Amino acid sequence: MEIDKFWTRGNLKERINDALSDSDLNKSNLKIEDLHPIDQYHARGIAATRDLAEKVSIKENETIIDVGCGLAGPARFFADKFKCNVVGVDITPAFIEVGNDFNKRTNMHDKVSLHVTDGKSLPFENNQFDAAISQHVTMNVENRELFFTEIFRVLKKDTFFAFSEHGLGPKGTPYFPLPWADDEKMSFLLDPEKTIELLKEIGFKSISFMETGEKYMEGYEKSIKTNSSSKKPVLGMHVIGGPTMYDRQKNSMLSIKEKRTLPFEIICFKN
Ligand SMILES: C[S@@+](CC[C@H](N)C(=O)[O-])C[C@H]1O[C@@H](n2cnc3c(N)ncnc32)[C@H](O)[C@@H]1O
Repeated sequence: MEIDKFWTRGNLKERINDALSDSDLNKSNLKIEDLHPIDQYHARGIAATRDLAEKVSIKENETIIDVGCGLAGPARFFADKFKCNVVGVDITPAFIEVGNDFNKRTNMHDKVSLHVTDGKSLPFENNQFDAAISQHVTMNVENRELFFTEIFRVLKKDTFFAFSEHGLGPKGTPYFPLPWADDEKMSFLLDPEKTIELLKEIGFKSISFMETGEKYMEGYEKSIKTNSSSKKPVLGMHVIGGPTMYDRQKNSMLSIKEKRTLPFEIICFKN
């Protein structure tokens, strides 16, 4: 599957094993923080996940869903912070395999369960979850309506859906390759206003919209600077994203700067 190949980029497990060994972390009983440099696989990493978590409230023992959970770094963070359960789903089997391994190594396997699933057909009952999150996934999803409708369906009434993405900017056509796609075949960016309209049509209410472009440009700048220095850290976005990651980040930064993309975060509710 093309999307699977894109996200896995060759021997993912070997790259992870080597990086963990080189950082003396190839062991069980890791702290969830130990994995943050590689398991928060989106622009700004753990800082963005923390920001998102600050804006929502989840009660102890509630169960939330993370659609497009990647290696389940954000899922473990939310489970730990809120003492909730997280069900993570992702279309890339290798990410779920590594995510399960990371759950065991951090002793989070009782709180976080993972499934290989396309977010457009969630294998769950209606009205089942107490909240939904999805960080930087939708850029790969051509049929947004189906993706959002599935999330709406599995949410209980009065619960939130919080997500972030790179929307299409007013100037259009970003520079490829990007962190989420090598070319337009995998990238389906939508004008943020159209996204909001779509969410309303599906039935989401109380939609709050936050532009995140400035923060992302700062984050990319920091990441590119750190990783082009001679003391490049062993753990970083390149472990999962491969050696082209920082060039793809440069393209993303330039696309934001030139308003070709417009990153944002939305929190909305199923009323
Ligand atoms: C940028 S990564 C973000 C991973 C995770 N949300 C995080 O923030 O660490 C994008 C993820 O979306 C997943 N993805 C893309 N399309 C998907 C779909 N239709 N259903 C489920 N997952 C999808 C990819 O496999 C990848 O893991």
